Amino acid sequence: MAIMIKTAAEIEKMRASGRVLRQVHEAIAPCVRPGATTMDLEHAANAKLSQTAGATAAFKGYHGYPAALCTSINEEVVHGIPSSARVLQSGDIVSIDCGVILDGFYSDAAVTYAVGEVSPDVQHLLETTRSSLDAAIAAAQVGGRLGDISAAVQTICERQGFGVVRDFVGHGIGRAMHEDPQVPNFGAAGKGPRLKAGMVLAIEPMVNLGSPDVRVLKDGWTAVTVDKSYSAHFEHTVAVTRDGPRVLTL
Ligand code: MF3
Ligand code: CO
Repeated sequence: MAIMIKTAAEIEKMRASGRVLRQVHEAIAPCVRPGATTMDLEHAANAKLSQTAGATAAFKGYHGYPAALCTSINEEVVHGIPSSARVLQSGDIVSIDCGVILDGFYSDAAVTYAVGEVSPDVQHLLETTRSSLDAAIAAAQVGGRLGDISAAVQTICERQGFGVVRDFVGHGIGRAMHEDPQVPNFGAAGKGPRLKAGMVLAIEPMVNLGSPDVRVLKDGWTAVTVDKSYSAHFEHTVAVTRDGPRVLTL
């Protein structure tokens, strides 16, 4: 399938979707503390979403996924299912991933939070993964290549000795959550499709303190690191424009 090019009007609709998604993330953030359950976070997300007419949770019902959020703790990489039995503790990290549909357009964004005090190596993992997303966004330039984005993440994270996940990737996004192209977090600069104005990409580094290898638990969703090392995940929905990359989920 070809990479879809969005018009300026469509990008404004995606920005509106992304703005609601940012409000959802802002509503969840104060709930991330020791003693909270991941179901508390799910409830905060749904409460905020219900305040915006027309906005719906993109993940709920997606291939049968049961929630608005993915809440992935410590060695969980992505797709952890919110649960009233999962209590956050100081020293944990939790990735909160959410998608919104507004006026037919999807937005997708994730943040990994430290809960209370985390160890310095885990803090370094969070900061490196977050800064690799910034570098990847900066590489989303008209005339560049998709591989510029991938290489930005890989170079920054592997230089610190971290494992870049191969089994899950970012994606084009628009009237569907997942459009072409796939956006790997590994690859060669200068390779791959040329980036054009109107492309919109969900860029989402998933980076492990240890090996890149992951497996999916028996619940059919939760992806964890094989070596049980902690994993960080940050994501923004980004439009490639003639004026440079535009983050739609800020
Ligand atoms: N945020 C994920 C992605 O970028 C989608 C979550 S899968 C779902 O692909 F089932 F939870 F929706
Ligand atoms: Co995504």
